[in-house]
Amino acid sequence: MPPEVVAHRGASTRRPEHTLAAYELALAQGADGLECDVRLTRDGHLVCVHDRTIDRTSGGTGAVGAMTLDELRRHDFGSWHGGEPAGVLTLEALLGLAADHGARLFVETKHPVRQGGRVERRLAEELGRHRVDVVMMSFSVFAVHRFKELRPEVPTVLLYDRLWPRAKPRFADFAGPGVHLLRRHPDRGEGVYAWTVDDPADIALCMRRGVRFIATNNPAETRERVAAN
Ligand code: G3P
Ligand code: CA
Repeated sequence: MPPEVVAHRGASTRRPEHTLAAYELALAQGADGLECDVRLTRDGHLVCVHDRTIDRTSGGTGAVGAMTLDELRRHDFGSWHGGEPAGVLTLEALLGLAADHGARLFVETKHPVRQGGRVERRLAEELGRHRVDVVMMSFSVFAVHRFKELRPEVPTVLLYDRLWPRAKPRFADFAGPGVHLLRRHPDRGEGVYAWTVDDPADIALCMRRGVRFIATNNPAETRERVAAN
């Protein structure tokens, strides 16, 4: 079975990451799934922002967790990348888009340890209101475990960056190595979510290994390469 193409932060090479424009383009380019990072605002809303602060991806400055959703809405998250002005994207809005298109949504919770599980609890609540095929992901074994206890029916990915142990905990349905780790372990690939796969040689490697999901910043090109194989 060919791997599913997952748009990492949307079609983030061509559009500002984590904006509706980036996700809409990814879907138009044939992405099967969408990846996003989520953080909690001061007043408890989940928003799609990768970094701890909004400095890199908006015209503003400051930590996401120190701002309310209304305060975040005053900033432009599109122009920094040469895109149209765009408001901060809520998880709620992205769930709506994924539901409308029948796309799978891969939600990565950021800094769960510092938040003491609040991000996972909020995510578990929010998912209850939508009919979307969601996969929860984290680099934190505690976060994945905690989330699985709350929503056992939702598939999970335990992400790996430096080391990729062979034994995956039972509460993680998939292993999520960086593609650099996949290169180092020639016997692995089946049932894997690999990130971030933009290089044609890495796309070919993922296909040879039977990787299940490929997260890419270039869904159009990755889609074409997967189809051509
Ligand atoms: O899809 C997993 C990948 O997004 C993890 O790294 O830093 O891009 O969130 P990062
Ligand atoms: Ca991510």
